[in-house]
Amino acid sequence: MDASGKFCYFNVPPKIHIEILGQRFPTDDFSNITPAIISKTASQLHLKHSHPLSTLRELIESAYPDFTHASSVSPLVTPFKNFDELSFPLDHPGRAVTDSYYANRDMMLRTHTSAHEVEMFRKGETKWLLTADVYRRDEIDASHYPIFHQVEGARIFDADGNGLKEVEEDNERLSKVLASANIVIEDVPHISPTNPVQFDHDPVFSELVAKNLKLSLNNLMLKIFGGVAGISKDRPLRVRWIEAYFPFTSPSFEVEVFFQGKWLEILGCGVVRQATLNTASVPNKIGWAFGLGLERIAMVLYSIPDIRLFWSEDSRFLSQFEQGKINVFQPYSKHPSCFKDVSFWLSPNCALHENDFCDVVRDTAGDLVEDVKRIDHFVHPKTKRTSLCYRINYRSMDRSLSNEEVNHVQSQVVTRLKERFAVEIR
Ligand code: DAH
Repeated sequence: MDASGKFCYFNVPPKIHIEILGQRFPTDDFSNITPAIISKTASQLHLKHSHPLSTLRELIESAYPDFTHASSVSPLVTPFKNFDELSFPLDHPGRAVTDSYYANRDMMLRTHTSAHEVEMFRKGETKWLLTADVYRRDEIDASHYPIFHQVEGARIFDADGNGLKEVEEDNERLSKVLASANIVIEDVPHISPTNPVQFDHDPVFSELVAKNLKLSLNNLMLKIFGGVAGISKDRPLRVRWIEAYFPFTSPSFEVEVFFQGKWLEILGCGVVRQATLNTASVPNKIGWAFGLGLERIAMVLYSIPDIRLFWSEDSRFLSQFEQGKINVFQPYSKHPSCFKDVSFWLSPNCALHENDFCDVVRDTAGDLVEDVKRIDHFVHPKTKRTSLCYRINYRSMDRSLSNEEVNHVQSQVVTRLKERFAVEIR
């Protein structure tokens, strides 16, 4: 990008169109989806038989047997759907081209499954789960990948006496299940001055809905973690609730689970903003929603050490899993790392965000890169020019890399940096 927020691809003729999932989009100054990303948009790992993400999706779905389960929805959405319909402010950082992937100004890859809330509610769905791939521009390391998977869940009730009765009955049913389970819950108030009821909600109803959300998700945590963690009366599952903020819910919460000695962030959730339901033409409803990331949970459940492994086609990875079964992953030999540094002066006319650097690396080297670290940042006292140095850790998950191969890839990275961002190599 240059200082005005535009990409500057030097010497590279601008592409007029890009094609994603069989659709063509005219490019503009927002277009930033790289071929490496496009090539993965049809993968649907959450539906791939025997894949850990597919088993985890089914496990979550089994906790909601009477909900609609959607799982093949195109990742292409308008920014309006991804952000505006959910009350994201215009200056929200998630909208920036440095953070999200855009086909052009009018079409993007969803950054979260919440992008489908309005459409699901508008279709008349009142209890549903939706599992899908989501896309965010990010750094490169063992727990970040620009594509990951989320499950969105929601339930809405009639905002009248019948709805109230339905929530109360469901709360009673869920409380009974939890009362006899090996679970300890650290709670926060359903509603508080810092986590307020919406002005257009009846506080009693909103509180019951928040309680229903918590009961339902505590049960989900038991379903996911109760079986495998050696949970017993003496060692109950520990779940903690934390106040949170999301533009499209109030009150809002995050859920953490104590697993293998650490608190693990699992999901965000809350009472759906009435504006969202009004936009979906169901103004007489009230309800909750949650969104949860699958990779992070699967990594701890299966002891999968690197997020890139989910994308592996290697049979030494894939053959270890069976649909419906959670087992500990046996790592095959770790191949050696090969570190390469690149230092350069930035062009005064062309900004380079860290995520731009990482996308150049990903687009050139694919999953051969384990992580990228900036190891130096220096501004020349006289010329005021900025110099950066990045260290790229090349390591394949599947095979040993030769120094020649890595040198070749590294020189392509350097060439692309020069072409696209006019950097001067030091
Ligand atoms: N979409 C949020 C994210 O990706 C997670 C989330 C938070 C989903 C609150 C929800 C919700 O449905 O109510 O970080």
